This record gives sequence, C-alpha cells and structure tokens, in this order.
Amino acid sequence: MQTWKHWRLEQTPNTADIGGPAFLYFDKSFADGSESTNTFSSEALHELGDVCAQLKVNPPKALAILSAKENGFAAGADIDEFARITSADQAFAFTKLGCDVFDQVAALPFPTLAMIHGFCMGGGTELALACRYRIMDDGAKSKMALPEVMLGIVPGWGGAKRMPQLIGAAQALDLMLTGRGVDGKKAKRMGLVDDVTPRRHFLNAAKVFLAKPRAPHQPAFKDAISNWPIIRGWVANMSRKKVAQRARKDHYPAPYAIIDLWEKFGGDPRVVPAGDPISIQSLFSHPTAPNLIRIFKLQDRLKSIGAGKSDINHVHVIGAGVMGGDIAAWCALRGLKVTLQDLDHARIAPAIKRAAEAYKKRLKLPHLVQAAMDRLTPDVKGDGVAHCDLVIEAIVENAEIKKKLYAAIEPRMKPSAILATNTSSIPLQELSVGLTRPERLVGIHFFNPVAQMMLVEIVEGPNTSTETMQRSQAFVKKIDKLPLPVKSAPGFLVNRILTPYMTEAQVMLAEGIPAETIDAAAKEFGMPMGPIELADVVGLDVGLAVGRELHKPGNPQPAKIQELVDAKKLGKKSGEGFYKWVNGKPQRAHGSGTVDLAPLWMRMTLPAVNEAVACVREGVVADADLCDAGIIFGTGFAPHRGGPLKYLRAAGKDKLLQELKLLEQKHGQRFIADAGWATIV
Ligand code: NAI
Repeated sequence: MQTWKHWRLEQTPNTADIGGPAFLYFDKSFADGSESTNTFSSEALHELGDVCAQLKVNPPKALAILSAKENGFAAGADIDEFARITSADQAFAFTKLGCDVFDQVAALPFPTLAMIHGFCMGGGTELALACRYRIMDDGAKSKMALPEVMLGIVPGWGGAKRMPQLIGAAQALDLMLTGRGVDGKKAKRMGLVDDVTPRRHFLNAAKVFLAKPRAPHQPAFKDAISNWPIIRGWVANMSRKKVAQRARKDHYPAPYAIIDLWEKFGGDPRVVPAGDPISIQSLFSHPTAPNLIRIFKLQDRLKSIGAGKSDINHVHVIGAGVMGGDIAAWCALRGLKVTLQDLDHARIAPAIKRAAEAYKKRLKLPHLVQAAMDRLTPDVKGDGVAHCDLVIEAIVENAEIKKKLYAAIEPRMKPSAILATNTSSIPLQELSVGLTRPERLVGIHFFNPVAQMMLVEIVEGPNTSTETMQRSQAFVKKIDKLPLPVKSAPGFLVNRILTPYMTEAQVMLAEGIPAETIDAAAKEFGMPMGPIELADVVGLDVGLAVGRELHKPGNPQPAKIQELVDAKKLGKKSGEGFYKWVNGKPQRAHGSGTVDLAPLWMRMTLPAVNEAVACVREGVVADADLCDAGIIFGTGFAPHRGGPLKYLRAAGKDKLLQELKLLEQKHGQRFIADAGWATIV
C-alpha cells in the first residue's frame, strides 16, 4: 500500500488479486483524523495528480476509486479554500487545477471505476464523471449532484463537459441548473451510473465489474440528440427561458453561465476568455458568488449550534392548526414519535390528511409512508403530555389562553420534559408567569410553511436554563432544521426585522401604489415573494397580531389589514386578502407598470436593515453574521445580497444613512437611523 496525505493506493491487496484492480481510497487527512468528510483542497487535487502520474508509469489492470469516509464519496471543493479566494485569478487557478487533474484521471490508459456511497457532490461527481464507469450504493442517503449553481458558480472541473456527453444535455442541464441530487436508482435510469449495489458489496462488485469491463455508457438516441449542433441552440434557449422564470440574470448569473458554457465552450471553463461575463473570473468578481458561499458557510455554523446528541424522542404538539399540524407532521417524518392534540377530532383530521399527502409525495414507497403515519398519533385527550420529552404548544396567539393551557399541563409533564411555545410574538417573560418550573420554558419558533423554511428560532427567556436551550437546539438539528438562538425581545429576530418592511409596504398600498407594483419592487430587490403577497400567504390575522405586538407609538398602522380581517378575508387560506386567490395563485389585476421600482424597494427594505442594526446592537442575536443567516433562512431575504447587514456594507453605510435621512424628512420618525449605525465600520 502506498499513502499520500489524503489518498491511499492498494495495488495488490492480496496475492489472489494480483492482476486485479488497484483500489484508490480518498480519505482526507486520514493520518491525523482531523476531517470526517472528503473535500477537494488544492493539496488533495495535487496529490491526485501525483497518483495519476505514478499509475501511468506503473499501470494496474484497472482502478477503482472509493471513499474511506463513512458519510460519503466527496462533498465537493473545499469550501474553506473557496472562501479564502480573494482574487478572480486565484479562482481561475483553482478551477484550472481541478480541471487538469480530472483530465489526467480521464486519460488513464486502463478502465477506471468510481464506487459512490453517501453524498457525492460537485467535485465528487466531477471525479466520478472523469472515470470510465460508476457504481453507486442503493441506499436512500446516497446522492449525486452538481450543486455549484447554488453557490453562484458553474461545475468547472469537467462536470459541465462530461455530464451532457454521458446522459444528454437536456437531463444534464436540468441537474446542473437546479443543483438537485439523484439517488442510485434515478442515477441508473438516467445513465449517470452503470450499476447500483449495496456498499457492503463494493469490493467484490469492483473486481467482478472490472474483470470484464463493458463498453462505456452511451446516451440513448433521444438524449444524445440534445448535444447535436443543430438542436443545441434550441435546448439552450429552452433552458434559458426556464431559468428566467426563477432567477434574474443580474441577481444570479451562474445558471445563465452554465448554459452558455455548455453551448458555446463545450463545458470547459479554461477556454472561456477572462473578460467574458461567463468566465470564472467574472463570476467570482460578481457579488453573488461570494455572498452565496458565505451563506453556505453560515448554514454550517447554524448546524454546529445544534451539535450533540438529542435526547428528544417523543414530541407532543398541542394545536393542530396551520403550524402545529405541520410541525407534528415534520417531526414524524424525521423519525420521532409524535402525539397531536387539539380541542376535538375534527380539528386534528385535516392535519393528519395533510401529513399523509406530504409523506406520499416525499417518501413515495408505501411502507415508508405507513411507517411515518404510524409515528403520528391523534391525541385529543392529551395522553402524550405525561410521556413526551418535549411539548410544543402551537395554539392561538393569545397569552391568557396559552397560560391557562400551561397551568393544566405542567403538573402532568415529566420532570425532564421541555415546554416549548411556537408563539410568533408573545415575550416568554409574559408566558412564564405562573409556571412552577419556568427554566424549562423555551420558544421553538418555526416559520410558515414548516416543510420549506429551514430556520427555527430558539427563544431564550430570562428564566430559560442553558440546558433547555442546548437540548432545544439539538432537537432542531435532529429534525434537520437550522437552530438560531435569539433573546426573547418582542418579535424575536425574524419577525421584528420583517415587520417594518411589511408595514411600509402596506403604508405604500394605502397611499395608492398598486399591490402589483409594490410586490414587483420587492422582487427587483431580490425577495422571493413581494410583501403584499407574503402577507396573504402568512395569513392576515397572524400578520395583524404580530404587527400590533410590534407597533411603535407614533408609527402608522395601516387600516386595510384590520378591515380585511374583520371581513374574514384572511388571505390565501380563506381565498381572499389583499389579493383574490384562485387555485393557490394570487390574481393580479395588472403588471407593475413603468415606474422606477428602486425608490420603492429602498423605502421598504431600509426599515428592515435599520431594525437588523438595532437587533445586533441590543444583542437579540449574537452577531451580524447570524442575523443575516436568520433573515435569509427564515424569510428568504434576497440571498444574493447576503442578508440585510451584508447588503448594508456592500451598498455603503454613508449612502444608506443618507437615504434614511431623506426618507425620515419625507415620511417621519420611523426612518430615524438606529444608534447601532454609529458602531458599524
Ligand atoms: P391556527 O389558528 O391555525 O391553529 C391553532 C389551533 O389551536 C386550532 O386548531 C385550535 O383549535 C387549537 N387550539 C386552540 N386552543 C387550544 C387548546 N386550549 N388546546 C388545544 N388546541 C387548541 O393557528 P396557527 O397559525 O397554527 O398558529 C399557532 C401558533 O403558531 C400561534 O402562536 C402563532 O402565533 C404561531 N405561529 C404562526 C405562524 C403562521 O404563519 N401562521 C408562524 C409562526 C408561528
């Protein structure tokens, strides 16, 4: 066996295998055990180049490449190295290095086979594509993907070249433009892998496969034609149209660059002139890529907040409405035992029905759907209270009703069980009055829709114990959400920052600016959905309650939302709010018109930025990075801008302060800059 720092080569594992394949294990930093995940740093790539050079001189009959890490084949490029890149030239050099080394793998003069288990992302998939063959583990956790687009970059290590050749451009572009992963079965159907087999059979499978290698996979005719020069332009245009429905080119240049890279340069970034807008240099000089890479790292930081084993196995959810029903369904989906309580069966039934539909869509296989349903039990009597490790209360947003419920259930809870509230805005100090053990009260605040929003605020009241915080954070990580600890100030973090933005939109509406124009302005800034539409989606009753709780004396309180709630027009859920809703879509009377949208989005977003500054100053959240992460993962706040505080720094503090001053002169005190601006450098 021969070893490098990140690779181990077994050329003749035992005498019986002489003449059999060599096995190359990717095992990042195995000597000091400092890394549990394989990622491609420059060093790991250089070493792979050395391995190839040596194998060329002393070739085995065949080579199988495997990962020695439990969690997967490779997670892609080393994101820390990416984040350290400070110049466009460095970015190009890193791209070229990966491209050159994987070309060396592709040029090896003997059969090569990637054996893929667990996650195989970005560079991992590109290495696998550089091999002549691929075999994938059949487990549900094994996924292949080229998710570079989510970081604002392109699959630059040969993926944009080799994947379209292997499975046809239409399928490959779909994977590259969405970044979505495929499991073994799907990968085999697409032609991405040659075989699927359990990981425990990998060594034998490699020997058998490589003893008599077949002809390398060729795409089926229907797939191959999408690469033909006469069809190519049409495929590219169709893809551009699809992308345009989801992402603006000025906000997200990467998906457009992927299409151009494939269409005009055969997927090879090394041949793109440096000045071309789709070159690696241009993509890295654009603010979006560094912002998205930072967000990716912040996501890791949030995950690490929930580190440690969670001891929560049984969750009892009270309130089977919009939130409670979906929280219960999500926890059961993630493997926890869940009991769901409401005032009567009729109120629980819709939540169970929603869960069944969601499980069918997500899990597909009937036995998995059944197992998830078995974990979710309707519990009108509330028997689960006495047995669970965690109660999540998600009943009406009314402090008195919530406190009455706590008084009834607290004596029945296990001493070690946590009492959590999903309240949107009621301070914990108010809810903890009357509790025997206020140290176990915590806010576990999910966002709507539960299945889609990654963030969960873990709200620390003045009495909440450190242990309760830690156990709550670990629970949230266990159910695959991102925990963000925040202090129990009104509105916590996300709603507090969102509210002045939503309110300003409604003030503008009251001034006569059409809802369509307001929503278009927010989208031009980069919000995934306009604030008027969002108010309808969240529910106007909920929005009204939060707006009231967070209202500051002297600020306007738009009357329209109250009128709509009085008329039972609650938004999407009742079929009408600010918009009329048909088949789940808002009915827009007209387009946004020809007005300049920039002053409108400036007026709506600056109050949010100002509130974010205040939250950091007050210590509602630990620092500016976590504040940005919270708003992005809790609301989808213009990810390409990197969050409100990153946006502040990019746009320039002095410029934004000047804008605030002008808005204050025109509209009043709500635009007064927070004291925290003074400390921002
Ligand atoms: P909802 O009105 O859809 O559901 C509340 C449910 O609680 C109803 O089914 C009701 O029958 C039940 N309930 C009321 N009193 C009860 C009691 N004493 N015992 C058992 N069940 C009882 O309300 P939604 O929207 O699900 O909100 C629930 C909580 O989540 C509120 O505190 C709200 O502020 C918070 N929240 C709401 C969000 C939203 O977007 N709707 C987002 C995040 C938090």
